Amino acid sequence: MILNAIISALMVMQAAFALPFNSAVFYIDNKASVFESGDEMYTVIWSTTLPGTGYVTYTYEGVEYVVKDLQNSAVRTTDTIHSVRVPKAHLDNNTYTYSSQNIGTRRAYVAVKGRTVTSEPVEFRGYSGQEPIRALVLSDIHENPANAEKAASNFDGQPDLLILNGDLVSYMTSVLKFKQILSYAYRFSGGSIPVIYTRGNHENRGTYGPEAVDIFKTSTRGQYFTCSYGPISFLCLDTGEDKDDADWTYSGLVDSTTYVAGETEWLKTLSPDAAAMYRVGIGHMPNLDNRYGNNWVPILTDLKIDLFVAAHKHRVNFEYRKQVTPFPLMIDGGKTNDDGYIATMLTFDGGEIRAECFDEKNSFVGEHTYVMGAR
Ligand SMILES: [Fe+2]
Repeated sequence: MILNAIISALMVMQAAFALPFNSAVFYIDNKASVFESGDEMYTVIWSTTLPGTGYVTYTYEGVEYVVKDLQNSAVRTTDTIHSVRVPKAHLDNNTYTYSSQNIGTRRAYVAVKGRTVTSEPVEFRGYSGQEPIRALVLSDIHENPANAEKAASNFDGQPDLLILNGDLVSYMTSVLKFKQILSYAYRFSGGSIPVIYTRGNHENRGTYGPEAVDIFKTSTRGQYFTCSYGPISFLCLDTGEDKDDADWTYSGLVDSTTYVAGETEWLKTLSPDAAAMYRVGIGHMPNLDNRYGNNWVPILTDLKIDLFVAAHKHRVNFEYRKQVTPFPLMIDGGKTNDDGYIATMLTFDGGEIRAECFDEKNSFVGEHTYVMGAR
């Protein structure tokens, strides 16, 4: 009893001194982006300068919702990254806000709570029957978003979707690297269009690599899932690392073999989306015939994939390894070997997918049209 009284008194003193200071240092340092994370669900993710709570608010069909960042039944309070899973139907073409409250100390029967910060309302644009549908594809940013932005500026208007195809950062040594990923997602989506993010081979390196996957709260609990946008069915894959688990690079601390084997078993449970006009695979590594001993080519062929968009090569190739994959496999650009950048726009229109690529010097790199039904 005496100890509890002393602790409570100390916490009140801490709160009295900490809160004015807290107002200046607790703020949203990365605005929210809305990530695809599995069928029918988005995960809204943002970050704050100090740990605290997170919740998303919106009104849907006359009902006000406050959806919290929970771990089981408890509100998460120890992280500066906040992620809230929301039904897609609730957010599409709706307005949302998000908030965080700083939690200084959390004990069994008392907590010291600080400032609450709330975003401006964000108008979110989901599928609304429009045609064509435009998806901006950026991969291999490798910490150079300025050139990616210059390359993307060649495409007029805001796209309907943002696809971030891995290696946005070169390693995940701390939460700051994850915040960098959030900053890029917001920079190119403004929090107002869906973002598909697939993990690159660099993004499992370092202490924060394994933690990042849990933030996305995907349906599969891995960084792989299916999702759709109107007539487009996406198969989003985690292609793992680019070297064997035994390579010195990983210090014996990865096991992509077991992880990708589990992902392969999940892939085998899927069936082609018969209702989709376009079936598109997204994944960072392009050698799909050998993902840690698993050949994904026949599986993806059975799933009637119309186009697979890969990255990693830091260049563009519209028909990569044509002899190996029965479906078209595109390499989407990214950071080039001379420190430039190539961005891709995919336009889905009338049963065709047109890919156009520009670089950071506003030079046209190339284009290709993929015709559906040619499978
Ligand atoms: Fe890569």
